[in-house]
Amino acid sequence: MIKIAPSILSADFGALREDVIKVEKAGAHWLHLDIMDGHFVPNLTMGPDIVASVRKDSKLFFDCHLMIDNPEKYMESFIKAGAELICFHAEAVDDMDSLIDKIHSFGVKAAVAIKPGTSEECVLPLLHKLDMVLIMSVEPGFGGQKFMPEVLDKARKIRAHKDGKDIDIQMDGGINEETAAYAAKAGVNILVAGSAVFKAASYEEAISKILKSAEDAVNG
Ligand code: DX5
Ligand code: ZN
Repeated sequence: MIKIAPSILSADFGALREDVIKVEKAGAHWLHLDIMDGHFVPNLTMGPDIVASVRKDSKLFFDCHLMIDNPEKYMESFIKAGAELICFHAEAVDDMDSLIDKIHSFGVKAAVAIKPGTSEECVLPLLHKLDMVLIMSVEPGFGGQKFMPEVLDKARKIRAHKDGKDIDIQMDGGINEETAAYAAKAGVNILVAGSAVFKAASYEEAISKILKSAEDAVNG
């Protein structure tokens, strides 16, 4: 089953509560929370207090995408705030193996994200213990950028790996009705969409169009 994880980066931060309630009713499966520190990426977003506050109003699965340096230092505070999946960047961590174990020791899911210029090779030896790999399809930092089709091959390679058959593969950046189909066809099963959902007139219509296009691409 293909799932959609709307990214609240493109929500109205002044009406975040309403937007999250609305997107949950509109058929979102997960909620994607983009955490940026102004170092790992040239933008700043939210800390654990905002995550905890949104948590009060939502039953959605909370997927925390940490675009930060030293994720090992901060991940626990995001778990305490309600994250059910911690996704850190391969480029920000030396010992990914230990960090995955540490995340799992809190009883939540662990994922690794790779930027467009990072090869999938670095995650292949970890697939057996990872819950998800996030393939960035734009340079991390901002919503509303153009999808980079050259990253699709990474999804195909991970899916084809002996340990990649059942793993969740997420794609993030520039996902819309058209690009969702390319991603799904390459083996992606969790679609992050920020502007394509939150800038749409109807969240429900945007979500169902993206999901339908992805499902159609897979089912032929
Ligand atoms: C970018 C973030 C994305 C972003 C996607 O660094 O990781 O999650 O919100 O936004 P769109 O879907 O507009 O590209
Ligand atoms: Zn993201």
